[in-house]
Amino acid sequence: MAAEQTPARPGTMREHRRIGRTLFADYGGPAVSVTLLTPGIARIRFAPSGAFAPRRSWSPVPPDDDFDEPPVSGTTTADGAVEIGSTGLTVRLEPAAGRVTVLDPATGRVLLSDGPDGGPAWDPDGSALTWTRRMPADQHYFGLGERTGPLDKRGRRHTFWNTDRFSGHCPGTDELYKSIPFYLAMDEAGRCHGLYLNNTYRSVFDLTDERGERLVIACDGGELDQYVIAGPHPGDVVGRYTSVTGRMPLPPRWALGYHHSRWGYETEKQIREVAARLRADGIPADAVYLDIEALDEYRNFTWDRKRFPDPAGLVRDLAAQGLQTVLLVDVGIKYQPEGGYRPFTEGAERGYFLSDSGGRLLLRYVWPGLCAFPDFLRPDVRDWWGHLHDELLATGIHSFVNDMNEPSMRDRPIYEPGARPVDPPPDTPHGPPDERTTHAEVHNVYANAENVATRGAIIRHRPGERPFLLSRAGFAGLQRDAATWTGDNASYWEELELSLPQLLTLGLCGAAFAGADIGGFYADAGPELLARWYQLGAFYPLARAHNAKGCSDQEPWVWGERIEAVCRRALELRYRLLPYLYTVFADASRTGAPVLRPLLYHYGDDESARLRDDQALLGRDLMVAPVLRPGRRTREVYLPEGRWYDLRTGAAADGRASVLADAPLEGELPVYARGGAVIPFGPVRRWVDEGPLDPLTLRVFPDADNAAEGVLYEDDGVGVTGPSATTRYAYRGGTVTARRDGDFAPARRAVRVEVPGRPERVLDEDPGDWELSP
Ligand code: GLC
Repeated sequence: MAAEQTPARPGTMREHRRIGRTLFADYGGPAVSVTLLTPGIARIRFAPSGAFAPRRSWSPVPPDDDFDEPPVSGTTTADGAVEIGSTGLTVRLEPAAGRVTVLDPATGRVLLSDGPDGGPAWDPDGSALTWTRRMPADQHYFGLGERTGPLDKRGRRHTFWNTDRFSGHCPGTDELYKSIPFYLAMDEAGRCHGLYLNNTYRSVFDLTDERGERLVIACDGGELDQYVIAGPHPGDVVGRYTSVTGRMPLPPRWALGYHHSRWGYETEKQIREVAARLRADGIPADAVYLDIEALDEYRNFTWDRKRFPDPAGLVRDLAAQGLQTVLLVDVGIKYQPEGGYRPFTEGAERGYFLSDSGGRLLLRYVWPGLCAFPDFLRPDVRDWWGHLHDELLATGIHSFVNDMNEPSMRDRPIYEPGARPVDPPPDTPHGPPDERTTHAEVHNVYANAENVATRGAIIRHRPGERPFLLSRAGFAGLQRDAATWTGDNASYWEELELSLPQLLTLGLCGAAFAGADIGGFYADAGPELLARWYQLGAFYPLARAHNAKGCSDQEPWVWGERIEAVCRRALELRYRLLPYLYTVFADASRTGAPVLRPLLYHYGDDESARLRDDQALLGRDLMVAPVLRPGRRTREVYLPEGRWYDLRTGAAADGRASVLADAPLEGELPVYARGGAVIPFGPVRRWVDEGPLDPLTLRVFPDADNAAEGVLYEDDGVGVTGPSATTRYAYRGGTVTARRDGDFAPARRAVRVEVPGRPERVLDEDPGDWELSP
């Protein structure tokens, strides 16, 4: 960025003033402002002109006034610095160059500082901005959106620009489909803070200067608008980050089941056959996907009636088997000036599509050929887009995939040799008249805006129900409207391995409901890889298999009964764990906590756990140790602090130690329950809501003090505001107690209680509150 070559910097602080929770400092024109949004979140903005921009309607963050004013104090120090702070953070504006230091008021520990040559700078001839900070040797940086590579993001440059990376997700890959400019920093004692760059332009976090210990944040335009977030625990940071950018709403319960997808199922008949096979073979499943083959010449909002003669009948028949139908929608609308295709005609007549700065319709290639692109930043366009879904919704389809929404486009027909991915020109106008801007500013939030439209349409059609929407692209805050997947991965062991740190990273960035295509999208999965992928994929927050057209089949049954049994068993374990998983999701929707968590989330002070990315925690109480390499039948598993139980055998082992676990292909992965947990299990189901949770099995895993606790969250599985119940279980001195709060009444059921080394106890009827003595 030009600002790195010829940077201008703020001068000396001329004056400062505090208004309520905000401190302004003038550096001879350029200005820095600090607003304490909450006791632990400080918004620090830098504007070279001294004028701060108004909030955009598409901003992922709420207006400052939405946050109740926290207690704020301020002082001026002897060296001319000015401080403003609350109970969780103190921000010090240094007297020179707009430099900022952020401290923990409780301990005086420095969380962030700019160093002697750092601070904000800008390109006097352009709009690029940078902020240079210290990157202490003992700091690890996690998050930064959708990334390849290990958990710790030090040592690499991370660009935020939504990109359709349709081939090759490898260590050298930079931009991917999503941009989430947020990091969680952790020192070697496990103490954390976070930083979110609230800027939708192309931006970069450069963590390559390990020698100079400098971290550079750069953006192409807008303001350097940063939310600095207090810890000290990862959960504090992620909780605060998601209090700003939003949390995943609780999905409908069925969406926690297995989703079966493939691009390349050509006909309704084939979809019916696949569904029948899933059921005949006892593969638990809750959703089947319709990809672009179902459309007439790949045009959105149409059906290929020859191949899909009766979509409503299909949806109905699938629903009768407990399967939801999920339909893929792309953002490109086929250019059809001759008429006969309402979405194009209407969109063009009303001026809803993007035009270039010269006023010519912006046309690029997507699957159907030349396409026009809706301007989702405009509320009227979003409203129209929502209504384009009306007929689909009337067909019974109420779950969608928003695909190709980076937006992805090529300069020539997709299959023509040499076709290249392109972006709209940066000066392409966007947005409503009162907020007119350019593509450069809104490229990264294009998908978020589309998701708002789609989600709104689903909710309008089915008020009171939780929608399911899956989006490939997104910016910070994506989780509010959609689940997400990691795009077009490929069937390689390396990409199986990569999926774990990638999903753990997304989880830290608020995207709690995420998955990678099980089996790999491109390329051909052999039997062992496929089996291992189902085993791990059953632990992804979103368990969706997907495969590309033209690649070899990878349904669970393609390699015969032996491999199919492994896949089935993996999914059966997921379904048995649903009471626990749903409780984890409910907690995530309230707190922003990741569903699938890196070990550092709970064991950041343990050096052996901190950077582990080949194991993961599902919620707090389960830890999965997948097999990520061919031919392995055992694996080393690191058990953090405490006692851990092998879920398969019940055998206990004490932590801060590694064990060598059996991991035969034909079995279940090594999965461990945390000592101190009570984990609720249900019966195997063909689909999530096939029947009531009966029997409920409580597996008790005592800690070293022979105690354990657990929670079960329940509701009707779909309603937004309906009744719910939370039951807390405790095990102490051999006695198990249950206490239920809430107004949801589960169906009559039996409860089984399993405590290691004791005979199973059964309550024929679960009264909600109960006690079982030894
Ligand atoms: C994109 C999507 C993929 C989909 C395909 C065809 O590659 O990422 O999931 O199957 O388009 O629609």
